Amino acid sequence: MDCRSRLVCVTGASGYVASWLVKLLLLNGYTVKGTVRDLGKAGKVAHLKALEGAQERLQLFEADLIEEGSLDSIIHDCVGLFHTASPVLYSISDPQQWYWLAKTLAEQTAVKYAAQNGIDLVVMNPGFVIGPLLQPTLNASSHFILDIIKGKKIFPDYQFVDVRDVASAHVMALEDSSANGRYILVESSVDHYEAVQILHELVNPSHNNPYQNVTGNLTVKVSKKKAESLGLNFIPMEVSFKDMIETLRHKNFLHIWKRRDQC
Ligand SMILES: NC(=O)c1ccc[n+]([C@@H]2O[C@H](COP(=O)([O-])OP(=O)(O)OC[C@H]3O[C@@H](n4cnc5c(N)ncnc54)[C@H](OP(=O)(O)O)[C@@H]3O)[C@@H](O)[C@H]2O)c1
Repeated sequence: MDCRSRLVCVTGASGYVASWLVKLLLLNGYTVKGTVRDLGKAGKVAHLKALEGAQERLQLFEADLIEEGSLDSIIHDCVGLFHTASPVLYSISDPQQWYWLAKTLAEQTAVKYAAQNGIDLVVMNPGFVIGPLLQPTLNASSHFILDIIKGKKIFPDYQFVDVRDVASAHVMALEDSSANGRYILVESSVDHYEAVQILHELVNPSHNNPYQNVTGNLTVKVSKKKAESLGLNFIPMEVSFKDMIETLRHKNFLHIWKRRDQC
């Protein structure tokens, strides 16, 4: 199916994943309707307006998912909807893991609704998303990377995937009529100590890594086969981290983190 130059919608357009998705869609010739909660916050959308093709083919709308029907008038003429907005906060301090529950229930509800209404639904489940940031603020997973650099153990192991691959997989799924069901997007699974080591070498190679000789256990391994069947050629984790650290440094987040750490 040739969807180029057609109209698509991206919810939560100013977010980490969505910003890359909007960028890729514009580069591929799509006209994009992006939704944000507050168009008055110029700082949140400036990076979207500066994207190549944005002046001609990006339209921004206000929509809050908590308000029922808020998307109806925006998506009615779109050939595709990329639903990346998440009204649930990712919090590891929450022992009941509401985030995981909310995401699972949302997926189940979407699958049921799509089946009942003849909608062609494809689900993308990325692992821990890393890679360069387009947006000016930190999202939850970038926050976690700063915490890991600082030595905080977020999880025993991590399943990393590059944000650019997550965006590409979404577009590939729209363009491939055989795309179906759920895609798990993971490039590399590493234990916490290996992640610390890779990050330390990038951020502060001269500093002694306290976990140099410590190894952990990998609990999860994920097959890449289904995602690769879309045509996805995963960016290696080391490249994702290198590019991510570069943007974190460029946007002054590493600097802020270091200052805080010294207080
Ligand atoms: N990052 C990861 O490691 C990761 C891993 C697996 C899955 N995911 C999922 O991927 C999606 C994108 O994640 P991300 O890392 O790009 O997150 P993000 O940067 O925080 O973006 C999430 C977006 O959701 C919007 N949003 C929040 N509440 C909303 C509401 N009530 N109505 C409308 N929009 C709302 C936010 O808009 P505002 O700008 O208005 O706040 C924000 O732009 C999420 O569904 C997340 O759960 C992410």
